[in-house]
Amino acid sequence: MKVLIVGNGGREHALAWKIAQSDLVEQVISVPGNPGTAECGRNLPGIRVEDIVGIVRAAKEEEVGLVVVGPEVPLCLGLADKLREAGFPVFGPGAAGAQLEGSKLFAKELLDRHRIPTGSWRRFSRAGSAKDYLENVETWPMVIKADGLAAGKGVFIVKSREEACTVIDQVMEERHLGDAGGEVVIEEYLVGQEVSIHVLTDGSTIVMMDPIEDHKQVGDGDQGPNTGGMGVSCPVGWLGQRAMRQIEQRILIPMLHALRVEGIPYQGLLYAGLMITEGGPQVIEFNCRFGDPETQALMRRFESDIVPYLLATANGTLDKCDAPAWDKRQCVGVVMCAEGYPGLYRKGEPILGISSANANEDVVVFQAGTRQDGPQLLTNGGRVLAVTAMGKNVAEAREAAYAGVEKIRWNGAFWRSDIGLRPATLSN
Ligand code: AMP
Ligand code: GLY
Repeated sequence: MKVLIVGNGGREHALAWKIAQSDLVEQVISVPGNPGTAECGRNLPGIRVEDIVGIVRAAKEEEVGLVVVGPEVPLCLGLADKLREAGFPVFGPGAAGAQLEGSKLFAKELLDRHRIPTGSWRRFSRAGSAKDYLENVETWPMVIKADGLAAGKGVFIVKSREEACTVIDQVMEERHLGDAGGEVVIEEYLVGQEVSIHVLTDGSTIVMMDPIEDHKQVGDGDQGPNTGGMGVSCPVGWLGQRAMRQIEQRILIPMLHALRVEGIPYQGLLYAGLMITEGGPQVIEFNCRFGDPETQALMRRFESDIVPYLLATANGTLDKCDAPAWDKRQCVGVVMCAEGYPGLYRKGEPILGISSANANEDVVVFQAGTRQDGPQLLTNGGRVLAVTAMGKNVAEAREAAYAGVEKIRWNGAFWRSDIGLRPATLSN
């Protein structure tokens, strides 16, 4: 069978790497892919992820047996619907399900209708009424979220009324985020420890994956602006069985029920961003796809062949699958970025040392913002690559990951030095 993977990030390199190991798979084809996915199969570099017609045409021409959609943008544009109409098994929800990520308002309303725990919130479609509301807020910080997709840049944690009003002006009046900021959610700030839970679901059955700790801020100690994710550690030592059961019973099963009673089909990955508060888990957000760089760690640890699980998710037969086997070791993944990220950054810097990092059998480097220019690999994005490493515990996995990072070089490369070192993790 040929498998088509849509996307060109580190997540897609990790998926291509894992899928290519399956005995069921003859070839992995990536649209458009990156130099990392090219090593796992073949790229169709001329097709963009938003080109729904082009992707459906490629799936037909290549006669693929499964399509795995990586990013949220094509899912929100209805790529999975169009592929299903054309008869392909697809891993990824249709446009209706993708709204969970595509509209914060849609997600918050659904959560409230089904009494799934999440921070209290209000919706605003005019800057004036948002500011009137902020006049009477007494506890800070608060969280302001643009309704639409904003590539991780639509969430603002504001510490004062003044700061909040500046954000409202920029998002709603000056439209810094374009149409995504036409409406906003103003939300209670949740206090606790953050964790990402990835779940495979065909709409009837869920397969929960091990929890992951993401590190979203650009700087050590969670300082500076949010990014797409600077590093991960999986599993999460401080999150016990009891908390996992609460997450399943209070959040995931009610969510599955909510999708069913609302008539929203869902075949793909449900990503719950959660805050573990004193009162239990609360939803920060739902995403409709695998996380990046979470997937890089998950694919390293997923021991079973993943393709039967992806196919069963696409075909609605997950209830027939046994629980997958996991590598019990810890995985730490460190993202290396181009100077300036998450703001403006330079592209085209020569990258050295990836094969030297990969020489350690515990290490796998997954490429994201890279481009091949003849024999030379160049930087081509903000998050350039992720160095993942396995170890007996967090300390060993960190040591191997950072030893790998030290071997890789380009002008202006930077990374966080504290991936895996959350205070709660250390106290365990
Ligand atoms: P999101 O894009 O919704 O994941 O938000 C980005 C980050 O902002 C999250 O990973 C959290 O760290 C933080 N965040 C979002 N909403 C809240 C909230 N209600 N309370 C506390 N932190 C939040
Ligand atoms: N790493 C966060 C995300 O994929 O949304």
